[in-house]
Amino acid sequence: MQNQRYYVTTPIYYVNDVPHIGHAYTTLAADVLARFMRLDGRDVFFLTGTDEHGQKVEKAAAARGMEPKPFTDEVSANFRGLAEAMGFSNDDFIRTTEPRHYRACEELWRRIVAAGDLYLGDYGGWYAVRDEAFYRESETTVGDDGVRLAPTGAPVEWVKEPSWFFRLSAWQERLLAFYEANPDFIAPESRRNEVLSFVRSGLEDLSVSRTSFGWGVPVPESPGHVMYVWLDALTNYVTATGWPDGNTARSGFWPADLHLVGKDILRFHAVYWPAFLMSAGLAPPKRVFAHGWWTVEGQKMSKSLGNVVDPHAVIAEFGRDAFRFFLLREIHFGADGDFSRRGMLRRLNVDLANEFGNLAQRTLGFIARNCGGMLPAPGPLSADDRALLDAAAALLPTLRAEIGRQAFHAALEAVWSVIRDANAYIDREAPWTLRKTDQVRMGTVLWTLVELLRRLAILLQPVMPETMAKLLDQLAITDRSFASLAVPMEGEVALPAPSPLFRKIDDAAGQGG
Ligand code: MSP
Repeated sequence: MQNQRYYVTTPIYYVNDVPHIGHAYTTLAADVLARFMRLDGRDVFFLTGTDEHGQKVEKAAAARGMEPKPFTDEVSANFRGLAEAMGFSNDDFIRTTEPRHYRACEELWRRIVAAGDLYLGDYGGWYAVRDEAFYRESETTVGDDGVRLAPTGAPVEWVKEPSWFFRLSAWQERLLAFYEANPDFIAPESRRNEVLSFVRSGLEDLSVSRTSFGWGVPVPESPGHVMYVWLDALTNYVTATGWPDGNTARSGFWPADLHLVGKDILRFHAVYWPAFLMSAGLAPPKRVFAHGWWTVEGQKMSKSLGNVVDPHAVIAEFGRDAFRFFLLREIHFGADGDFSRRGMLRRLNVDLANEFGNLAQRTLGFIARNCGGMLPAPGPLSADDRALLDAAAALLPTLRAEIGRQAFHAALEAVWSVIRDANAYIDREAPWTLRKTDQVRMGTVLWTLVELLRRLAILLQPVMPETMAKLLDQLAITDRSFASLAVPMEGEVALPAPSPLFRKIDDAAGQGG
C-alpha cells in the first residue's frame, strides 16, 4: 500500500458560471480523498481546473462584450478563489486554454485517426448549448411556448454542419466487455446499471468537431473544424500527467484512480471517455463515481429562482470546516440532498459543537484547571479504557474501507459513534469525582481521553483540516500522519491553554431559522 500513487480528479468547471455549492461539493470530496491518501502515505496527484472552450463560453464572453480568451482569464480566477476559500489542496489547476492541453488534444486526435475511428461527414441534429450535448429527436420535448427542450430542460437548436464523427457504434461490445471485466469502474451501482442499459440499447456515432464557431482546439489538418468541447475537456485528465511528453514528473499517474463527477455528466466519463482512450491506445481510468445533486431548501437551485448558494457566504457565516463537514455528513455520497439552513445549523450546533467540541473542551479544560495544564501519565488501563481506545483504533481500517468506496457519510458516522461512546465514558468515569477519591485513576481517564482526541483529530484532518490542526496544537502533537496512530502518546506532557473548536450559532438569530 505504502507510497503507491493515487490520482483523483474533479470535473473541470465551465468558467461562465459563478461557483456555487455544487462545484464546491465535487472538489471537496476529491480534496478529502487526496488528504486522506497523503496522510496514509500515498503519493497523491489531485487535479481540478476549468473548462474554457465551446459555444457556451463563447456566448458568455460575447454577452460581456469580450473576446473569449481575456474573458476566460478573468472568470477562471473565480474557481481558483473558490479552491482557496474552501481550503482545497489540489496539486495542479488546469485550464483547457493552455498550450500543454492543445498538444495533448492534438495527439489524442491523431491517434484516434490512426486507429480508424474518425471519419468526416455531415451532422444534422439537436444541440443544447447549455449542456454542450447532442440529443436524439426522440429524447426532446416541445414545451407550451413551442420551445424544444432536452431531457435536462435545456433548450435545443437544430445544427447542420460538416463534422468529424467518432465511430462510437463500433465500441459497444468492447465497452460492455470492459464494464464486465471491471465491475467497480462505475459507482454507485444504480448509476452503473443506467450506463449499462444505455450502452446495451445501442450507440450512435458521435459528432466530435464543430464548424459553425471557432472557440476550441483546432482539429489537426482540418481547417475550419474545432474539436467538440467534451472531447477537449475530457482530455484534460491526461494532459495534466504530462502526456504526450514521456517521462515527466507525473507520467506514472495515468490511469487515474478516480474521476469524481456529478450524475449529469456520467455518460461522458463512463461511455465516451473510455472509448476515446482505448481507441487512442491509452488505458481507461480505474473508476468513475457519480454523486447526486443538491437542492436548496427543497427547491432546485437556479439563477432564475435566485437561490444559488454562494460558498463564500456559507463559509463567512458558519466557518469553512463546519461547511465541509456538513456537505459530506448530511447526505449519502451518491444520493441527492437538500441544503437547508436548519440542517447546517444542526450539524454545527449538535454534531460539531455539542458532541465533538464539548468532548475536547471538557477534557482539556479539566486538565488546564485541575492539573496545571499537565497531562498525567496513565496508570494501568481498565477494561472501560481499553474498550474506548480499541474502538478508536478500529477507525483507521474502517475509514480506509469507507473512503475507498467514497462513502464519506459512513466514515463520519463511524467516527461519531466513537465520539458518542467517549461522551458516555467521561460521564461514567467522572474524573471530577476521581479528583477527590483516586488521583491515579483520574490521570488514567484523562490520558485515555487525550489519546482518544489525538486519534480523532488525526483521522478527521482530511475533512476539517484547519480545526483539527488547532486541536492537535492543543494536544501538543507534532507527528500527524496516520502512521503515528500506531504509537500511543506519552503522559506527563504540558498542554497549551485550550480554546473552543466550534462556535455555536443561536438558531433564533438566523433568518427564518
Ligand atoms: N465542464 C463540464 C465538465 C467537464 S469534465 C471533463 C461541466 N461543468 S459544470 O461546471 O457545468 O459542472 C461541473 C460539476 O458541477 C458537475 O459534476 C455537476 O454535476 C456539478 N453540479 C452542478 N450543479 C450541482 C448541484 N446543484 N449539486 C451538485 N453538483 C452539481 O459539466
